[in-house]
Amino acid sequence: MSASRPCAAPALTVRRLHIDLSGGFSRRWNGGDAFTTAYFNALSMSFPVGEQFFIDSVRDAAALLGDSPQDAALRATVQDFIGQEATHRHLHAQFNAELARQGLDNAWERRLQAEIARRRAAHAHWPALQHARSALAVTAAMEHYTALLGTLLLARVDQPGDWLRHADEPLRTLWRWHAAEESEHRAVAFDLYQRLGGGYAQRLRWFGYATRLFLGGSARQTLANLRRDGALASRRTWASALRFFFGRHGVVWRIGGPLLEYLRPGFHPARSGGDAAATAWLRDHAAQWQAVPRPPAAHAPGKARPSA
Ligand SMILES: [Fe+2]
Ligand SMILES: [Fe+2]
Repeated sequence: MSASRPCAAPALTVRRLHIDLSGGFSRRWNGGDAFTTAYFNALSMSFPVGEQFFIDSVRDAAALLGDSPQDAALRATVQDFIGQEATHRHLHAQFNAELARQGLDNAWERRLQAEIARRRAAHAHWPALQHARSALAVTAAMEHYTALLGTLLLARVDQPGDWLRHADEPLRTLWRWHAAEESEHRAVAFDLYQRLGGGYAQRLRWFGYATRLFLGGSARQTLANLRRDGALASRRTWASALRFFFGRHGVVWRIGGPLLEYLRPGFHPARSGGDAAATAWLRDHAAQWQAVPRPPAAHAPGKARPSA
């Protein structure tokens, strides 16, 4: 077991969000904009299966930790991480059910499920520690993407470059809450990876794999969503896409540099920023969520709370 870096993962709060998606929402809920609605819809379509993979990864890895106080603290933080991701899955499954009612086909979810099954079968002969490290490396890489997208959704609130500025409620709240928690727990999988001795070369290799899955998958699903919306050939759609990625406040300029920070050997997510915006949003919207008490089992060494 590596002692390369002290794990300073802070305690996390699992929150229940007071929103109700049962009444449905409009087809172009993001201010009537076809492109950003289709893009965020695509992201949501990957969350339930992706976040279950993250949960499984950290739970399997936490079972390999020892009984030191440091390991016990990390194990407790992992339980909180699982609680947060399980809540995200639950609400995004409701969100995705409404997308299905609107006629969108979640092909990305099916592809991810097939990829996870393929990977599991191909690596079935690996020792548990090797399996845990590779799954954690994929999870840590994906968590880097979600944390950066989270900082993007919490910055410039109500200003140009706020990509949710005109979103319908309660969806704006849903996305910002998820963004804040992604920022909060961004170091958990990474800390666990390092604690189990995961190295730099393997971290880079799985980052490349995760990048292909994320960028390719989100592009394909966004295009499919736009086609279903009848907006694929619209000039307005592609003007919005250009603005979103390459405009003055475009995603590429705002998160391209921080994204590549991951390639540095000494990178650690805790130093990548975003805490202030997440804390401020959670404080300012405290009436919209409720903290879920931690079960006592979360603190017991060697015990992992069953996830959702
Ligand atoms: Fe999440
Ligand atoms: Fe996450």
